[in-house]
Amino acid sequence: MIWASGWRLASAVSNAGGLGMIGAGSMYPDILREHIRKCKQATKKDFAVNVPLLYPDIDKLIQIVIDEEVKIVFSSAGNPKTWTSILKEKGIKVVHVVSSSKFAKKAEEAGCDAVVAEGFEAGGHNGREETTTMVLIPAVVNAVKIPVIAAGGIATGRQMLAAMVMGAEAVQMGSRFVASQEASSHINFKNLVINSQEGDTQLTLKQLTPVRMIKNDFFKHVQEAEQRGATQEELLAILGRARAKKGMFEGELAEGELEIGQVSALLDEILPAGDIVKNVWTEFMNGLAEPLKML
Ligand SMILES: Cc1cc2nc3c(=O)[nH]c(=O)nc-3n(C[C@H](O)[C@H](O)[C@H](O)COP(=O)(O)O)c2cc1C
Repeated sequence: MIWASGWRLASAVSNAGGLGMIGAGSMYPDILREHIRKCKQATKKDFAVNVPLLYPDIDKLIQIVIDEEVKIVFSSAGNPKTWTSILKEKGIKVVHVVSSSKFAKKAEEAGCDAVVAEGFEAGGHNGREETTTMVLIPAVVNAVKIPVIAAGGIATGRQMLAAMVMGAEAVQMGSRFVASQEASSHINFKNLVINSQEGDTQLTLKQLTPVRMIKNDFFKHVQEAEQRGATQEELLAILGRARAKKGMFEGELAEGELEIGQVSALLDEILPAGDIVKNVWTEFMNGLAEPLKML
């Protein structure tokens, strides 16, 4: 996750038994190299790097991932055709993030080892079609033979169990880890996340790249512009530069872009990432033992 997932969060998740991930989308290439090296120092376990494929210097990021011998890449936001075979030739496992069965099939054809099927509830960039996780998971499981990792609206062990009952083999959690001690997100943003309620986020900027964010002043400017039929250029001007950094990293809550999922409504504590992994696992195992127990 941009502005959240550096080496501290990734290594803490991997050390606790999850697969931690470094989000390269908000890093200059040299910064990514530094995070990979620090992550290797901080954990002996595997970790992954997320590479958004529309990143302007994508070839540099890919080269760093190869040079630093990263074993697993999660690609997103773009066509997996170009880069998957190049990474796979180097023995790197490639997982691509999709929001529809159609894109899942394309990822399978491109040679990806697995897909993340990310539903409408998810924080950050998302599909235009608004397919919810509940519908997307069974659809993608039917559409492809490669393993499906469920994402979007999952923050608890019982939700993880539900995703697996629908055919997912793993889950990817984003928002839950924004509200972790090790996330590099600003404390103002973390506090807002744990205090947010149902209905506080919305998918917007559908004309450009749809993104789910908190409904703050910046969101309202975007909405007003979209409602009066603003052009893409006008929207880009409102978006300006570095809005996401301003909001999520620098803690400017009114005018920054604050990406988070619907599941933020279920979060009420900032926890160490290792505790999050442990809690999810314990609740998952209890749920598995007694799936229909009244809570
Ligand atoms: C703050 C934030 C930043 C994100 N940045 C990225 C990113 O750079 N690349 C990506 O593939 N997904 C990104 N995501 C999506 C997450 O990887 C994950 O799929 C999503 O958060 C899952 O849904 P959830 O938020 O309901 O857990 C981001 C999500 C959040 C909340």
